[in-house]
Amino acid sequence: MTTSHSDALVFFGATGDLAYKKIFPALQAMLKRGHLNVPVIGVAKADWTLDQFRTRAHDSLEKHGGVDAAAFEKLSSLLRYVDGDYGNPATFRALGKELRGAQRPAHYLAIPPTMFEPVLEQLEHCDCTTAARIIIEKPFGHDLPSAQHLNRVILRKFDESAIFRIDHYLGKRPVNNVVAFRFANTFMEAFWNRNYVESVQITMAEDFGVQGRGAFYDQTGTIRDVIQNHLLQILCNLAMEAPVRLDSESIRDEKVKVLKAIQALEETNLVRGQFRGYLQEKGVAQESKMETFAALRLEVDSWRWQGVPFYIRAGKCLPVTCTEIVCRLRKPPTFIPAELLNSNYLRFRISPDVAIAMGMTVLAAGDRLAGQSAEMIASRQPNAEEMDAYERVLGDAMAGDATLFAREDYVEEAWRIVDPLLQKATPVYPYEPNSWGPNEMERVTPPGGWQNPVVAHENSAVTGQAA
Ligand code: BG6
Repeated sequence: MTTSHSDALVFFGATGDLAYKKIFPALQAMLKRGHLNVPVIGVAKADWTLDQFRTRAHDSLEKHGGVDAAAFEKLSSLLRYVDGDYGNPATFRALGKELRGAQRPAHYLAIPPTMFEPVLEQLEHCDCTTAARIIIEKPFGHDLPSAQHLNRVILRKFDESAIFRIDHYLGKRPVNNVVAFRFANTFMEAFWNRNYVESVQITMAEDFGVQGRGAFYDQTGTIRDVIQNHLLQILCNLAMEAPVRLDSESIRDEKVKVLKAIQALEETNLVRGQFRGYLQEKGVAQESKMETFAALRLEVDSWRWQGVPFYIRAGKCLPVTCTEIVCRLRKPPTFIPAELLNSNYLRFRISPDVAIAMGMTVLAAGDRLAGQSAEMIASRQPNAEEMDAYERVLGDAMAGDATLFAREDYVEEAWRIVDPLLQKATPVYPYEPNSWGPNEMERVTPPGGWQNPVVAHENSAVTGQAA
């Protein structure tokens, strides 16, 4: 295992969408912070020159966050470009030359998973794998067998400590704050268990559709796109035990234990939906049964969580764009009539604003005995100086810190949970755009209902409302 910093970054898929939207902005941000000082070599098949590649980088920055003249000049000087087919050894010979003696390159595969294997083969042939790191974009496989196969292929060429499987949600500070908040505050432990928590719900809502990614999405769907990875990671942060040490493996061990305690999903605990209009999207099959919405219920069968239902829902074309967690507590055995009580809850808003809020019942104003719900809120807007998720994960991978990446056993456990249902033709119910999913939600509705996030225009934190 090497902990020294990578001395070159090679990114495959350099002319693609991800590079345009996320990678160039992340590289510029790293430069501004003084975190990047090694050659950055883009590889793609587009018949481009280095100048065209630089123009693309400039374009990308103009559209995504703005160009910082000084940082862009530095980025331009670090950029190199190799044009060629991923199956052609000549491409990799050219790459070898552009690496100009770099000893510890990080190869970032921002390409479709079907291309991973040929690229890995070629990297090995051109002797570009020794002392190198490999950074792999999600989705990591398409199901459990393909993920296992991919792991076998990569592990033949790289040690696990040199493999960085990206889940950009792990690069989001508010996602990590869930763990920090739990283990930095004494009061949390007192109620963070099956005796007090009644249910947990995680919502990832997006108010837009597939945004021109129809062909990709129609092969993927919501479960593979965001539940198998982003939302199970959030669930692990909520449910994991305290790691015994702060190193990456101790932390990742605890996450894997959470997944191991979850049974494979059953059909009765899943509802899939598809927004009306999806079939007209470019790249989508005429009679597609792919889901653009999924809601599910699962349990973490551990000492801490046994019997507590965890609900997850995610979808496109919902009323707002917001990721939020609500952990509802059991009601107290009080003399106050139950109908006057609102459940206590803890709410973590991940985006668009960041909030941690505690929901409680207080006595309403006036003379009657009446309860009123109130929230104690710690909230803030995302800070402009804050690291974007891609900046964080790319920087960590190049520095060799694997904490924020999915380990081999983690991805396989996550697939194990969702895989049996992906193999079945479970029903897909239509839903109207701008609604909270299909009507057939009964079997995956938490006691007391879903708490739909409300997003204020200026993205300020607003109390959620029961559905
Ligand atoms: C990606 C999914 O992984 O995450 C997209 O492929 C989704 O479909 C995106 O829109 C959401 O990420 P973020 O960071 O914008 O919440």
